[in-house]
Amino acid sequence: MELSELREKLEKLISEAQKAAKSVSPDELIKLRPKFLGRKGELSQIMRLLGQLPQDVRPQAGKLANEAKRKLEDIFATVEEKPRKAEKVFDPTLPGRYHELGSIHPIRQVLREIVDIFYGMGFSIASGPEIETEYYNFDALNTPEDHPARDIQDTFYLPKKNWLLRTQTSPVQIRVMESRKPPIKIIAPGRCFRRDAIDATHYYTFHQVEGLYVDHDVTLADLKGVLTAFAKKLLGEDVEVRFRPHFFPFTEPSVEYDFSCPVCKGKGCRICKYTGWIEISGAGMVDPEVFKAVGYDPDEYQGFAWGMGVERIAMVKFGIDDIRLFYENDLAFLRQF
Ligand code: DAH
Repeated sequence: MELSELREKLEKLISEAQKAAKSVSPDELIKLRPKFLGRKGELSQIMRLLGQLPQDVRPQAGKLANEAKRKLEDIFATVEEKPRKAEKVFDPTLPGRYHELGSIHPIRQVLREIVDIFYGMGFSIASGPEIETEYYNFDALNTPEDHPARDIQDTFYLPKKNWLLRTQTSPVQIRVMESRKPPIKIIAPGRCFRRDAIDATHYYTFHQVEGLYVDHDVTLADLKGVLTAFAKKLLGEDVEVRFRPHFFPFTEPSVEYDFSCPVCKGKGCRICKYTGWIEISGAGMVDPEVFKAVGYDPDEYQGFAWGMGVERIAMVKFGIDDIRLFYENDLAFLRQF
């Protein structure tokens, strides 16, 4: 190669760059910089040829090349690197993004169904915090200091004194009664926590629907009527409800109630553990001590209350025999609902 040839190449490169600078937008010009000045760009390729020149012209050649480099840099320096604008360009040719369709979790489905039924019976919806105090979760519910439910084995206590994760939705009863006067007709769906050992029917978290009805002249017959009507709406007209005597600190008298197994129609199957009945939860007439705690006159008002285990009902409705399936987030399981 001759010096003249080098000069020509460099001039051609510069005029090309000048032409580009005039014809394209600044944004596009920035993109062209590597083609001219990049490590593998055209200037670098020409520089590499310098070695082929005779020794005596090399210093001159180097000077030419450096000048060309400066010129090119000037051309590209006129386009300042602006910070890229967050300008959104709509490209109608891009393929659409695929969003996989989710489904409503079976627990949420059943919860909604339960709430809908009670709503239809005139109950309104109340809620309370999942992080509670001992007062609302136990004291105001007439649950004495030494009650086994308070045991560290059953309750998740928080580091802050007197605070815990609610073990039941019953504290919502207290919060509602503290804030208004009878008549009260509410349900309180929500999540609870207990330090239960995990197995097919126990998990450290689960859902309940609490119910509370307070007015004049309320009796246990009203409670039985409401829960029976509910069971038939939820699981079918032929479902029966059984009430068994029980004890809860916040109700007197107290009952536990069961629904006849809708899967085997009470004959006995895997789902009802061959008893024909599904244990749902507890209920009863609000204890006068609870009314006193919220400032209601127990001689003037009566009320009934109940709890309801949502997972239990979901297991029966869907024929599921292991509660853990609800919390494993296994898509193969969840997609079935
Ligand atoms: N809170 C009770 C539990 O979790 C269930 C319950 C029983 C709720 C009786 C009530 C009730 O409102 O009156 O086991």
